[in-house]
Amino acid sequence: MKHGEKNNSHRNRTGMLIAFEGIDGVGKTTQLRLLAEALTKMGHNVISTREPTNGPFGQKIRQVLVNRNEVSPEEELELFMADRREHVKKLISPSLSKGKIVITDRYYLSTAAYQGAAGRDEEDILKRNEAFAPIPDLVLLLVGEPSLGIHRIKSLRQEELNDFEQESNLNKVAAVFDRLKRTYIKRVDATGDIDEIHNAVMKHVKRLLI
Ligand code: TYD
Repeated sequence: MKHGEKNNSHRNRTGMLIAFEGIDGVGKTTQLRLLAEALTKMGHNVISTREPTNGPFGQKIRQVLVNRNEVSPEEELELFMADRREHVKKLISPSLSKGKIVITDRYYLSTAAYQGAAGRDEEDILKRNEAFAPIPDLVLLLVGEPSLGIHRIKSLRQEELNDFEQESNLNKVAAVFDRLKRTYIKRVDATGDIDEIHNAVMKHVKRLLI
């Protein structure tokens, strides 16, 4: 067994856990939808979900996103972890036990990358998460330029950038994502067109389904 992939209690499951990761605006949500549709067509039982969740901690996180100075870095990390604990307990683990394919838009690599970029030890964050959260079978890490993501957020979604989405911060986040090492991480070039990226995603997923 590889470093950081210790057998946690969630391993006795029959389903599959796939996470999309990457910086804001890189196209995770679109690719998740396309993958969920493709797997459903193939006859799989798919649950699509996301973090931050819509639960109480997720709602609190969304308030904090607007103004990061409201909480300390430690409180911020604790909020994301608490949200994930709920997510695992209420949705992810029960769905995996029922044999479903769970696809999540962000998971604990986001915590390593974003809270790591904010100065915390990314390896320590990974270990703390791997101690309670099911280890994903596959993480599709979409890789693209922060400037492109920012352009998408501003012009296509007509949204203002939150504190996490400022370019200088996203450059730091991207640098952490770049150096994270786990065997379940597959990096996918997210600069091409949507179908090309979807094909690359499907190649990785099909290897898992054999
Ligand atoms: P995002 O996926 O953009 O949510 P939504 O599109 O629903 O608003 O996530 C919100 C922000 O939270 C994003 O900038 C990344 C950040 N984030 C962390 O800092 N740590 C985490 O553990 C997670 C899951 C997200």
